[in-house]
Amino acid sequence: MDYRTRNRAAYNQLVSDGAVFSRVATDEECQRPLAVLDSRGWLPKSVQGKQVLCLAAGGGWQSILYATAGAQVTVVDLSPGMLALDDREARIRNLKLRLIEASMDDLNMLGDEQFDIVHHPVSTCYVPDLAPVFQEVARVLRIDGLYISQHKSPISLQVTRRTERDEYAIGVDYYHSGPLPAVEDKSYREPGAVEFLHRYDQILGGMCAAGLVIEAFAEPKRAHRQATPGDFRHRGNYIAPYLRIKARKLQTTAKNEESSKLWTP
Ligand SMILES: C[S@@+](CC[C@H](N)C(=O)[O-])C[C@H]1O[C@@H](n2cnc3c(N)ncnc32)[C@H](O)[C@@H]1O
Repeated sequence: MDYRTRNRAAYNQLVSDGAVFSRVATDEECQRPLAVLDSRGWLPKSVQGKQVLCLAAGGGWQSILYATAGAQVTVVDLSPGMLALDDREARIRNLKLRLIEASMDDLNMLGDEQFDIVHHPVSTCYVPDLAPVFQEVARVLRIDGLYISQHKSPISLQVTRRTERDEYAIGVDYYHSGPLPAVEDKSYREPGAVEFLHRYDQILGGMCAAGLVIEAFAEPKRAHRQATPGDFRHRGNYIAPYLRIKARKLQTTAKNEESSKLWTP
């Protein structure tokens, strides 16, 4: 079974199980949508009328918050179950969303330079190759458009188990390629999904190679000193699970320059 089929099925199942990633936006969050989406102040002060692509972001959270803040929202996600949550929540709140079932590494249904913001929550671990993802993001962004993304850190995906001394063991080679093996410590792994490790050079270097300029970088803290072993925040005391990146498209990408040469008189 290929990665798309496996991960579509895994996320449909997570929705049926009511898992954490299918948590929809609450009334309280909708009172202050931009503050909830963006505690670091990376977004513009207003997104009113902006074209926003919520990439691999089904589940009725990001989409509802952006639409509540006045943006024109498109959601691309592989899982019809996750997209159904966006649809249900949009109907409840009388919001309009454009929902597309597709894989983040092939956005051929979207035209060039259509979006002011691409918001991409943790999900690049579900595709084997990041280059097409970043190329597609750079293609669909307008010049000066913002790309906000979050990724599982490479070291987080290298951990395989917690030892009897409550230490976290690295059991996967940093240069591992192909699907990751099943692991004992499942703190940051979704059941049934097939995942891939991407190194820093593939994440940060990959964005730069696609013509995106990195403006800010953060490691969201998921740690608590009093957390007990087995709690994800215990592991978070030792290993930062995520990388959050703010990037921007400052000029037309190399690919677009090449194609524009074809029709320029
Ligand atoms: C961790 S969830 C993120 C969404 C969630 N709304 C959140 O709050 O972060 C990951 C999402 O990626 C989607 N996904 C997995 N593989 C994908 C792919 N190849 N293309 C697009 N979406 C994908 C899943 O269906 C799921 O909705």
